Amino acid sequence: MKTWRNVLLLLAVLVSVNIVAKPKIRIIATGGTIAGVSASSTSSAYTAGQVGVQTLIDAVPQMLYLADISGEQLVNIGSQDMNDQVWLKLSKRINELLNKEGYDGVVITHGTDTMEETAYFLNLTVKSNKPVILVGSMRSSTAISADGPGNLYAGVAAAASPNTKGRGVLCCMNNRLIYAKDVIKVHTTDVATFEAANAGPVGYVYNGEAHYFTKPEALHTTQSEFDVTNLEKLPQVGIVYGYANCSPLPFQAFVDAKFDGVVLAGVGDGNFYHEVFDVAVKARQKGINVVRSSRCPTGPTCLNGEVDDEKYEFVAALDQNPQKARVLLMLALTKTRDWKQIQEYFKKY
Ligand code: DGL
Repeated sequence: MKTWRNVLLLLAVLVSVNIVAKPKIRIIATGGTIAGVSASSTSSAYTAGQVGVQTLIDAVPQMLYLADISGEQLVNIGSQDMNDQVWLKLSKRINELLNKEGYDGVVITHGTDTMEETAYFLNLTVKSNKPVILVGSMRSSTAISADGPGNLYAGVAAAASPNTKGRGVLCCMNNRLIYAKDVIKVHTTDVATFEAANAGPVGYVYNGEAHYFTKPEALHTTQSEFDVTNLEKLPQVGIVYGYANCSPLPFQAFVDAKFDGVVLAGVGDGNFYHEVFDVAVKARQKGINVVRSSRCPTGPTCLNGEVDDEKYEFVAALDQNPQKARVLLMLALTKTRDWKQIQEYFKKY
């Protein structure tokens, strides 16, 4: 026992004097509230995407004990403005950093509004088993008890933790670690806004280390058959929200605009108003792929529930919410238009 203690002590000394190399972690900043500035420290009014990556890093000097840190600014936007071009650029840059530039992990600072979508897109397109962690904040950088610096520290701790490798992309907020496939923003203002739709957090960060409970079930990163290396744009997929007496106009507008696919945020188990159903059937007959998801925040959208998916060639989103079903359908459509193959993708990813 004493030997082990001496070994650990020696290791701590070596790391602290930089003799044992610390992991090289790159921070890619994209904006969001974590980079936001408010009119005053008590005002809830603020502007996202105002502070640069080096300012975010300088605010957390404690990270330097965890890793060899450097940063770059990809964009500086509120994540409500996240788009396909930024996604493609971000995924390609992460693959470059991890596979060609010798980095041991990447932490992305990002707005929380669409973080779950970016995380899932990266989970399906990053070609490395090294840690990729997204962090954000619910209070701006100038607010009392800003949560950004603590979230950034925890994100770097997770990226520097050896046991994060091989788990796919994760979100780290409020010290919780949640897989990209499961994470969903559930509260408009709470710092504990990220939950896992159908499961709990898969780990926590404390004492500067990541601790996990389970391994991911779904395929991800190096196991994924989706590759954006040579892609300059993504298929167009829209989402139609379902409700009582739902208008078919939004769906029809996507058809008229020649979208490649449409995801339905249906009621209950992915059901939708008969007028919308009729437009969806005609759309499928024109070759547009249709995925049934649900506006319910938890629970699966089952294949062949009240809707005969086989008959209409609809795809059931299974345990993906509409915004993430859209991400998977976009990538699926870079490989195939075959609804049965797309349904297989929803079973695997
Ligand atoms: N503008 C929102 C965004 O960038 C603010 C939400 C946040 O970052 O927490 O997602």
